[in-house]
Amino acid sequence: MDWDALIREELAPMVPYAPGLRASEVRERIGGGTVHKLSSNENPFGPVPEALAAMEAVLPRLNIYPDGGTRALKRALADHLGVDERHVVVGNGSNELLRIIGQAILSHGDEVVFAWPSFVVYPMVAQLTGATAVRVPLADGETHDLEAMLAAITERTKIVFLCNPNNPTGTIYGKAAFADFLARVPDHVLVVVDEAYFEYVTDPDYPNGLEAFDGTRPLVVLRTFSKIYSLAGLRVGYAVMPEKLVEAANKVREPFNVNTVAQVAAYYSLGATDEIARRATLNAEQRERLYEAFTRLGITWFPSQANFVYIHAEKPREVFEALLSHGVIVRDFGTAPALRVGVGTPEDTDATIAAFEAIAAQGGL
Ligand SMILES: Cc1ncc(COP(=O)(O)O)c(C=O)c1O
Repeated sequence: MDWDALIREELAPMVPYAPGLRASEVRERIGGGTVHKLSSNENPFGPVPEALAAMEAVLPRLNIYPDGGTRALKRALADHLGVDERHVVVGNGSNELLRIIGQAILSHGDEVVFAWPSFVVYPMVAQLTGATAVRVPLADGETHDLEAMLAAITERTKIVFLCNPNNPTGTIYGKAAFADFLARVPDHVLVVVDEAYFEYVTDPDYPNGLEAFDGTRPLVVLRTFSKIYSLAGLRVGYAVMPEKLVEAANKVREPFNVNTVAQVAAYYSLGATDEIARRATLNAEQRERLYEAFTRLGITWFPSQANFVYIHAEKPREVFEALLSHGVIVRDFGTAPALRVGVGTPEDTDATIAAFEAIAAQGGL
């Protein structure tokens, strides 16, 4: 069998998404003990109680297909966001929505512009459809270089992905830079603003992508229930997009792409505004504690508006392994002298700081 002739050639250079290590794998490796999984930007707390109760209540009805139109959740999201529900699309994680947007728009020869390093799924979306991924290096301070991104746009550019805050650096671009970008981006280009970490942001200069959404401009804003809402295991994300694009997305997506449990959990999580605000505050406090420790240990860190901190590491693999031996799992992408350290509970922070101190004391940083 000639598998290469059978399988689409676009897939040949692609590498499957590699998730961070699971806590159980690490526990086995280090022979038990407490493991702090700070590698996948998850929330350290479980789903909110309202969501847990709603999930339990729906279990006996799982013989029925989900609502394929996710109507109740879309209505709740529209209310929550102050947009028209005709502009909301819900996905099996925002990851699925990135892929849906790619499939709805991209063909061979098209170009997709995004910053680099940024979310690893953007190049995958481009490659999957035979489009060309155009990576624009982050500027000094590991922030989006919106000027260089504008310069990278050609006649063939169909999508620009903006990740704000950026994963893996946690950095943001500000209001003025975003307004200037939107004013100058050619209108044959769809701007997709990925705000997976929106609810963690504390900087008043952060531009909420939805404020630029008017229903006609080619702009999409993506958010997720995987991060502050603690529903990563269920897979629910959503997008706000112009109606023409909603129509296209509905052709591409699977008929029942968001399962029933996910729909009710997301619906009931939306109302937990006090708890979500509490989690954002706690995250910001722990982020500060990490900064303070990194500064003390002479580690270069980048100001983050998300639930992770990007740090410079000359020997990332060695530091990653040393942290693992202390039960702390961070993310080494293997492509830069850097590591991404997740922000967790105060106990996670204690363990992370203690591990870095121990490694520093042995000259291992
Ligand atoms: C920037 C960014 N976008 C999208 C996602 C995907 O999130 P979801 O779990 O909603 O698919 C992630 C997950 O890590 C992310 O970091």
